[in-house]
Amino acid sequence: MEKLKIAGGYPLEGTIKVSGAKNSAVALIPATILADSPVTIEGLPDISDVRTLKDLLEEIGGTVSLGDDGEMNVDPSSMVSMPLPSGKVKKLRASYYLMGAMLGRFKKAVIGLPGGCHLGPRPIDQHIKGFEALGAEVTNEQGAIYLRAEELRGARIYLDVVSVGATINIMLAAVRAKGRTVIENAAKEPEIIDVATLLSNMGAKIKGAGTDVIRIDGVDELHGCRHTIIPDRIEAGTFMILAAAVGKGVLVDNVIPLHMESVIAKLREMGVPVETNDDQIFIGRADKLKAVDVKTLVYPGFPTDLQQPFTTLLNRAEGSAVVTDTIYSARFKHIDELRRMNATIKVEGRSAIVNGPVQLQGAKVKASDLRAGAALVIAGLMGEGVTEVTGLEHIDRGYSDLVEKLEGLGATIWREKMTEEELEQLKS
Ligand code: EPU
Repeated sequence: MEKLKIAGGYPLEGTIKVSGAKNSAVALIPATILADSPVTIEGLPDISDVRTLKDLLEEIGGTVSLGDDGEMNVDPSSMVSMPLPSGKVKKLRASYYLMGAMLGRFKKAVIGLPGGCHLGPRPIDQHIKGFEALGAEVTNEQGAIYLRAEELRGARIYLDVVSVGATINIMLAAVRAKGRTVIENAAKEPEIIDVATLLSNMGAKIKGAGTDVIRIDGVDELHGCRHTIIPDRIEAGTFMILAAAVGKGVLVDNVIPLHMESVIAKLREMGVPVETNDDQIFIGRADKLKAVDVKTLVYPGFPTDLQQPFTTLLNRAEGSAVVTDTIYSARFKHIDELRRMNATIKVEGRSAIVNGPVQLQGAKVKASDLRAGAALVIAGLMGEGVTEVTGLEHIDRGYSDLVEKLEGLGATIWREKMTEEELEQLKS
């Protein structure tokens, strides 16, 4: 096992390139199950979630290749509805997309309850409500979800909670149902449009993806196609926040600026110079930052996935800022670690109150989840002295080549093997 070491306190500059979107990738890969001939996805990020899903497709009989350039080729023709009650499905939350895709193609699936980041309660009741409305019988037996249907029939489904996962999962099952499905109160995230684009290229009939009403007319067959994934707006936002924290001029390349509007607005409100062009965002140097309150909301609001990195940035800002996460009540595990680094932050209910400015100090800290990891890397770059971040398995799930990308901006950051003693301490 490795840890990350960061020598902080040095300004960064240059260009940093964003990879393909993790939260699209983890849905696009299961979506290939629905086709009857090979599907190619270009531009996948080099992250462990992608590799885990590749293994899972192979477990159910798919022939899958993944190139160094992030191009995945999936031949789904010999896949079978193999039960996946445990094992690799537990490694990532998005394995729940195997439910919708396998139900759509085989009318049956057994999938272990998903793993992923611990951010407080993360129920999947809306996914199940959708599958049941389409005619599936769904039971939970010893930690695995069993889904069976004689046939899937289109239905009108109103989501009680705006959910990215439920919207995509219902779409995956409904494209092969008989008749029309209407998802109301659907999530509008760009990743949903990306998945709908792939499915449409495969022959599905979907209208309204990206709005809160999605209409799907089921078809009998879906065929292979080639699809290029969208850039990762959360990785882009992480780099923008990092650039605002320690940059002296950073160009974030391969980004769709429209996806970043809430983040751009907040950074500008703090006094950060931000300029955009077609597919790049330039973050200029800001000597003084103003504290601003942030509330996470569903898209196009400020993303919960950037709440933790943004909290780190606020340590540089003058004044008191309230950060409220309306999506996940317990996404504050990074706060104790930031406090170890000298931050003055208190948590009250769903909010963190950050008092700045403070000079963060290097320390030994632990990433408890993916975006907490990003928040701690930024803190390490801001801090005086050396910071050691453990829990890299979380960061590796979602950030492609992070060390190399940051080295490209001039950061002093490296991975080191953990000692026997450190490994023992992790167990306790
Ligand atoms: N919810 C329910 N019932 C459901 C589904 C969701 O109550 O059946 C609640 C959740 O507990 C949460 C809210 O609805 O409070 C929104 O959850 P959503 O279903 O939208 O989240 P998700 O699909 O499980 C995706 C991303 C997350 C991101 C959220 C919110 C993937 C694989 N994950 O999760 O990404 O935080 O949307 O935008 O797409 C990350 O990248 O670090 C990450 C956690």
